[in-house]
Amino acid sequence: MNWLPMTPADLDAVVAVEQSAYTHPWTRGQFADSLAAGYDAWLVREQEELIGYYLVMPVLDEVHLLNLTVAPAHQGKGHGHALLRHMLGVARLADAQSVWLEVRQSNERALRLYLQHGFERVGQRRDYYLVGHGRREMALVLRRLLAQDERALD
Ligand SMILES: CC(C)(COP(=O)(O)OP(=O)(O)OC[C@H]1O[C@@H](n2cnc3c(N)ncnc32)[C@H](O)[C@@H]1OP(=O)(O)O)[C@@H](O)C(=O)NCCC(=O)NCCS
Repeated sequence: MNWLPMTPADLDAVVAVEQSAYTHPWTRGQFADSLAAGYDAWLVREQEELIGYYLVMPVLDEVHLLNLTVAPAHQGKGHGHALLRHMLGVARLADAQSVWLEVRQSNERALRLYLQHGFERVGQRRDYYLVGHGRREMALVLRRLLAQDERALD
């Protein structure tokens, strides 16, 4: 497994995985803008194949997890755990006090993963995500504190 910073040269592969993993995927432009803005983005490859990636935006002493995705063919094998552990390590290196994210209320798999890594539910945003046919669903807002005494959690 190779951990690599995401670069514009990766975007064909990233967008292909993104489109296969979500009903409402990020666009190529959203990834390109995030990289241009200097957000931290990492991916993991096995041989040449893209297994997964994540992207975080630092805001003062917070880190916001904007996207975390495992390619469908490789889900359920522990890569989500590995991406989250790596992301929390990057957040600590940046001396962040907390990590924030939003997750669809219906995304039980991701929610369970985040709760296992010490995230807690701290809020919600009604009608945040598109579902289709003009309907929307709630986002749950999760936070993971990175205070010194919580570091043992990982
Ligand atoms: C959510 C996602 C990142 C998890 O990655 P993954 O590699 O499949 O997950 P892992 O194999 O590391 O398993 C991590 C945890 O996810 C949860 N999980 C995995 N498969 C699950 C399933 N079928 N049902 C319920 N929970 C599941 C479990 O909590 C699991 O931990 P455990 O096996 O130790 O109990 C991945 O499924 C994904 O990319 N989904 C589509 C995109 C997405 O929803 N991203 C998150 C947006 S906020």
